Amino acid sequence: MQTILVTGGTGFIGSHTVLELVNSGFQVVVMDNLSNSKTASLLRVEELTGKKIPFHKVDLLDTQSLDKLFTDYDLDGVIHFAGLKAVGESVEKPLYYYKNNISGTVNLCEIMSKHGVKNIVFSSSATVYGDPEINPIPETAPVTAVNPYGRTKLTIEYILKELYESDHSWNVALLRYFNPVGAHESGLIGEDPTGTPNNLMPFVTQVAVGKLEKLRVFGSDYTTHDGTGVRDYIHVIDLAIGHIKALEKLNTNPGIVTYNLGTGKGSSVLDVITAFEKANDINIPYTIVDRRPGDAAVCYADPSKANKELNWAANRDLQTMCRDAWNWQTKNPKGYE
Ligand code: NAD
Ligand code: UD1
Repeated sequence: MQTILVTGGTGFIGSHTVLELVNSGFQVVVMDNLSNSKTASLLRVEELTGKKIPFHKVDLLDTQSLDKLFTDYDLDGVIHFAGLKAVGESVEKPLYYYKNNISGTVNLCEIMSKHGVKNIVFSSSATVYGDPEINPIPETAPVTAVNPYGRTKLTIEYILKELYESDHSWNVALLRYFNPVGAHESGLIGEDPTGTPNNLMPFVTQVAVGKLEKLRVFGSDYTTHDGTGVRDYIHVIDLAIGHIKALEKLNTNPGIVTYNLGTGKGSSVLDVITAFEKANDINIPYTIVDRRPGDAAVCYADPSKANKELNWAANRDLQTMCRDAWNWQTKNPKGYE
C-alpha cells in the first residue's frame, strides 16, 4: 500500500482528493497551514470513509516541521495542492505569492529530495495558457503568465522541469486544471471560499441561497454563442480521480508529464445559469455588466492526452456539477463554520 503526502489537503480540491485516495486504498497523510481551510473538511472525509486520516498543521515555509514529516512517515509520493490562488490578491501582494507558492514548493522539493521521495503531482492551472489562441487547448499550446498567481504556476512548472532534467529519478505530473466546481454528492464536503466569492459557481450558489442579491455577468459582447465567457467546468470529483490516475502513471516512471484536466466542453456563463436553474428548480437573478479586466473570452481543454495516457475522463455533466454545488451549499449555508 502506498503512502501519499497531500499538501493543502484540507482545501477544496485537496479534501475531495483525499477522499478518493482513501477510497482507492491509499494511506494518506495531510499537511496544511490552514490559511485558507479548516480541519472540519478532513473530519467530514473521515466520516465518509470511516478511516482516521493523520493531519499536521505545517507551513511549507517551515522547513524543520516539513523535514520532520518526511522523517516520521515512510512516504511514496506527494500530491502538492498547497498554495495561494486568488488572482486579485496576487496582483496586490506579488511577493507574498512568490514566497508562499514558489519558495514553498522549492522547500518541499528539497526535502523530498533529501528523503529520496521523488514522485510529485503538482496543481497547475489553465491560467498558464493566458488568453488562448486556439480552443480546445492542447498541452502543446504556448504558455504565458498574465498575473502573479499565474506566474507562480508557470514558474513552478519550469522549476519541476529543470529539477527532472538535473535528476532523472524524479517523476513529475503537471496537472493543468480547468474550472473545478461542484462538491461530493453527499454534500458533506465542498468549496468554502472566504468572503465574497470571485469565481462563478460559488457566487451562483450564494445568490441561490439568498446570501447575495444577484449575479453580475461579466460581459455579453464576447464572440461566443451567446456573448458571455466560455469555460471548461469540471466536477471536483472527476478532478480528484484524475490525481489518482496521475499517481498510477508516476509508478511507471514516465519522467515529467503534463496533462490538461478538463471535460473538453465549453459552457458560457448563461449556460451555467440555465443548467443551475434546471438542475435545482431555482431562479438565479442576474444583470449584465462590463467585462472583467483580464478575462479570456473562451478557454476549454483538449483533454485527449489525459483520456488516452491516464485512461481518465471527466464524466459528470454541468447539471450534476450544479446539483452537487447546490446540495453542498444548502446543507452548509455557512460552509464548514
Ligand atoms: P484551497 O485554497 O481550497 O486549497 C489550498 C490549500 O493550501 C489551503 O487549504 C491552504 O490553507 C493551503 N496552503 C496555502 N499555502 C500554504 C502553505 N504555505 N503551507 C501549507 N499549506 C498552505 O484551493 P483549491 O481550490 O483546493 O486549490 C488547490 C490547488 O489547485 C492550488 O494550488 C490552486 O492554485 C490550484 N488550482 C485551483 C483551481 C481552482 O479553481 N480551484 C484551478 C487551478 C489550479
Ligand atoms: C479563474 C481564475 C484563473 C484560474 C481559473 C481556473 C480568477 C480571476 N481567475 O478564472 O486564474 O486559472 O479560474 O480555475 O479568479 N463570471 C461572471 N460573474 C462572476 C464571476 C465570474 O460573469 O461573478 C464569469 C467570468 O467572466 C468567466 C466565467 O464566469 O467568464 C468563469 O469565471 P471564474 O469562475 O472566475 O473563472 P475564470 O475566469 O476561468
